[in-house]
Amino acid sequence: MYSFDEILDIVNLEIEKISYNHYTPKTLFDPISYILSLGGKRVRPALSLMACNLYQEDVTPAIPIALGIEVFHNFTLLHDDLMDRADVRRGKPTVHIKWDDNTAVLSGDAMLIEAYKEIAKVNPKYLLPILDLFSVTATEICCGQQLDMEFEKRMDVTIPEYIEMIRLKTAVLLGCALKEGAIICGADDADADHLYDFGIKIGLAFQLKDDLLDVYGDAESFGKRIGGDILCNKKTFLLINALADESAKRELIGWFDKKDFIEAEKIKAVTAIYDRLNLKQKSEKLITEYYEKAIVCLKQINIDDSRKKILYDVAESLMFRNS
Ligand code: IPE
Ligand code: IPE
Ligand code: MG
Ligand code: MG
Ligand code: MG
Repeated sequence: MYSFDEILDIVNLEIEKISYNHYTPKTLFDPISYILSLGGKRVRPALSLMACNLYQEDVTPAIPIALGIEVFHNFTLLHDDLMDRADVRRGKPTVHIKWDDNTAVLSGDAMLIEAYKEIAKVNPKYLLPILDLFSVTATEICCGQQLDMEFEKRMDVTIPEYIEMIRLKTAVLLGCALKEGAIICGADDADADHLYDFGIKIGLAFQLKDDLLDVYGDAESFGKRIGGDILCNKKTFLLINALADESAKRELIGWFDKKDFIEAEKIKAVTAIYDRLNLKQKSEKLITEYYEKAIVCLKQINIDDSRKKILYDVAESLMFRNS
């Protein structure tokens, strides 16, 4: 069995082998090489290989899935940064800043197609179920992203609506990465489904943590601008809870209505509201609850616990991450 570091080494090596250097026009493919070269945690491809490694020592059958999912994830980031007006990703200028908006759209489109090409390299025996889950997941992510954007304009988003939105935009891809890594190694349906549910639960905790780091993280380790969600009026768990408090709601609506303001002042004022209402703690509590639910899913997988330890550890490390 591989350790987490060994799994990441395999992932990194395989991603380095992907090269678009000879593709033209360079203006279409350079942004793809750029975003992939900036790395990131690469947690999704690692999850695919770890799921496969539960069943067999050789993880090569899961590599096309790992690569396809990571390229796909990076494609969503190009479009997401455009939609969220984000200037910094992984500590570097986003593609639409370094190039332009149209490049981010079209290089993203090309990446989506490249992702499918990677997925198509799986063992033909499993191609249909793999492709099917991948496509369902990709559509769900579009749905989640659309809801995320619509929620920016709404004041009455509920917590269940928020959870469903983050399930769609974020959690399903972690579930897909795990389930497909298991399917390709011949796991039975029950195990594959438990792995999927484990992915959903850690995915929900993952996005809650991302929203928390967007306010309370350190810009350098997080690699993104702190306060970006506040500036977009993103309906995060923090903001939805703050809007449930009458006096906080009045203050927040004052900020939403402002046309001219100093960004740092809005970020400071909204963060102060979250602090006053202890929303960081409330969010951390929910993250822990999803982590515990994830562990329950993992326990149900019909494999010796010693082989699952790596997944227990990853779930835990994602809870305490700062990047
Ligand atoms: C960012 O994903 C988008 C979210 C779903 C929060 P990651 O936090 O996995 O980003 P990288 O790939 O490590 O940069
Ligand atoms: C992104 O959510 C989800 C997808 C890219 C599908 P966020 O908008 O919170 O991700 P970051 O914070 O920009 O990485
Ligand atoms: Mg974003
Ligand atoms: Mg977004
Ligand atoms: Mg975010």
